[in-house]
Amino acid sequence: MLEAQEICWKQDNRLILQGINFNLLSGECVGLIGPNGSGKSSLLKILAFLETPTSGRLFFQGQSVPKAVPLSIRRKIAIVFQESLLLNTRVFDNVAMGLKIRGLAKGIIRDKVDYWLEQFGVAHLSKQAARSLSGGEAQRVSLARAFAIEPDVLFLDEPFSALDAPTKEGLRIDLAKVFKTTQTTTVLVSHDFKDIAHLTNRTLILLNGQVVAEGSPAELLRAPPTEEVKHFLAYFSS
Ligand SMILES: Nc1ncnc2c1ncn2[C@@H]1O[C@H](COP(=O)(O)OP(=O)(O)O)[C@@H](O)[C@H]1O
Ligand SMILES: [Mg+2]
Repeated sequence: MLEAQEICWKQDNRLILQGINFNLLSGECVGLIGPNGSGKSSLLKILAFLETPTSGRLFFQGQSVPKAVPLSIRRKIAIVFQESLLLNTRVFDNVAMGLKIRGLAKGIIRDKVDYWLEQFGVAHLSKQAARSLSGGEAQRVSLARAFAIEPDVLFLDEPFSALDAPTKEGLRIDLAKVFKTTQTTTVLVSHDFKDIAHLTNRTLILLNGQVVAEGSPAELLRAPPTEEVKHFLAYFSS
């Protein structure tokens, strides 16, 4: 579905990502974990065409991705960040936005918006002003908005990190349910191994801008391939 070959990213003469190889298969949710500053968001932005790599190549659905990424490709992806970037309108309009841009009929938009708000347990907030939502509600609306366009690839950058523990737990469970029914191809970034273990079957560990390990979360935890990976994961195994 999405492939990255030998991606490097340099900013201000500093190498932020180095020799990244990555392959995302249709229907899987792949995790990307690493400490703060390890380059997770940078890599996610490159994979989601928000930044251009300094070198390396990207392939989307088997096609090489040109530097000027066409709208036809951009419209196939959705991104959710740590801080929900909702517009200052009603919840309904926020979720409807991507569908309107894609020219869907009003009735279809209404059905889809209602369906996705329901899936994330926020249908009752449909008419509420988005800016009046709690953090957890806002993140639920952001996820509904992302799923509503039925993206070919979904990117989630620390979607629960700003939430308190019980809120986070509830949303993690609901998101796992949605993944089960939709099989949406997803890249999930988190610094929390719990998120990764709960939601992904395969994960990459990023340290200092390099992928240092890859495997199932359980396998990585049980048998970390190197001392540095062991050291990083030690915090989560206790
Ligand atoms: N646009 C940028 N310009 C310069 N440095 C950047 C830029 N974006 C990220 N960085 C640097 O790259 C490193 C990795 O950042 P980031 O990808 O945000 O890490 P993470 O998401 O894992 O916390 C950090 O040291 C950060 O300061
Ligand atoms: Mg980040």
